[in-house]
Amino acid sequence: MSSNTASDRTRLWTKDMQKKHFADEAYIDTEINLSSRPAAGNEMKYLQQALDSGNLSALMGGKMTPLFEQNFARMLGCKHAVALNTCMSALHSAVIAAGAGAGSEVICDSVYIFGAMAVLYNNAIPVFIDVDETTHNMDPDRIEAAITERTKAIIVTHAWGLPAEMDRIMAVARKHDLMVIEDCAEAVLARYDGKYTGTWGDIGCFSFQASKQMSLGDGGMATMQDDAFYKAVANFALAPTFLSIAHTLDYNYRINELTAAVGLARLETLEKEIGRLLDNAGHFDQAVEGCDWITLQRGPEKAEHSFYYWAGNFIDTDNGPSLDEFTQALTESEAATLSVGYTKMAAYDHPLIKNRAAQAFTDPRNKDFESLYEAGRCPVAERIVPQIILGYTIAPDDTVKRDAEKLHEVIRKLS
Ligand SMILES: Cc1ncc(COP(=O)(O)O)c(C=O)c1O
Repeated sequence: MSSNTASDRTRLWTKDMQKKHFADEAYIDTEINLSSRPAAGNEMKYLQQALDSGNLSALMGGKMTPLFEQNFARMLGCKHAVALNTCMSALHSAVIAAGAGAGSEVICDSVYIFGAMAVLYNNAIPVFIDVDETTHNMDPDRIEAAITERTKAIIVTHAWGLPAEMDRIMAVARKHDLMVIEDCAEAVLARYDGKYTGTWGDIGCFSFQASKQMSLGDGGMATMQDDAFYKAVANFALAPTFLSIAHTLDYNYRINELTAAVGLARLETLEKEIGRLLDNAGHFDQAVEGCDWITLQRGPEKAEHSFYYWAGNFIDTDNGPSLDEFTQALTESEAATLSVGYTKMAAYDHPLIKNRAAQAFTDPRNKDFESLYEAGRCPVAERIVPQIILGYTIAPDDTVKRDAEKLHEVIRKLS
């Protein structure tokens, strides 16, 4: 049979794209094959309502989007929520709302590249700071040394679903009058000190991309308490269309009513889904119990993980295997939900930054950034990223259980 059908071409294109973007090809199959979540609640009912209404956009009077926003804001206990098409759109809009353009700097953690990309979208300069070895999150003790007169904001990623130490981060930010943007793409319904991620900082950014805890195929949300930030995000991200007169350079980051309808349904089952992920993380926890060359990603007592991924650190010890031996044994075990090394590099080692492949790097208003990306700048991130162990808790329960047993067996053999 010819392989030249439209669907084959789409599939090939997707595979090629994934290969370009993923550091480890194992992730391609993990996330594509294991992230599937069929309708489990009112998805069809709300989709039907949206279709029957004939209004497929909130711009044209659709009701699903404002309802999705209201319910999301109510769930988190914040004043405003703006539904968007992706989390990157939310991050970009937040950077614009922070007023961080050319000549500005934004402090980012050094494991993730997303916040830094949003900063570069707006021609500002990302300044990476090191993470804590155990939490994989931004180390609050390192923020102050990175602040200059150009700093406008801090972007905090909650790694794998574990909240960063928001009380300490907010204290430094407030002292220096800096805006805080939370990247909650991996941390919906995570809590720190009883308060949800996305409600600690000035703007929270969420992702409903297909692999995330709440999958809508794609989608995003920006949350905020402050009316001025709400207006800023709504204005910059929801550019009007057709008869509009352009006053500012706005973007069209709108979500559509069908996605919002599915979002509305998935909000109703989200808490249950997070409960399932906690249980699945428990299987991986059990699998590594007693192993002295794997440590768990854990935060302070008050940090409640929402487990986009279960994560741990491989530790090079005298009596354990080498990283290569462990990785090879794990690969041979065919435990598809488990992988080692994430992107294998600190955020500033991505080609985007290394090759200065963004306009921000040629803008004369941006100064003194060369030393920000030198090797050794964030030694913890450089050391731990290549040895971070990830377990995809979102996969079907029996797959996670089986893979946890495989991990246990690998550990038993190598210890
Ligand atoms: C931490 C983090 N931030 C941002 C994003 C981007 O999300 P989206 O695909 O919704 O733009 C992701 C998605 O992978 C992510 O994991």
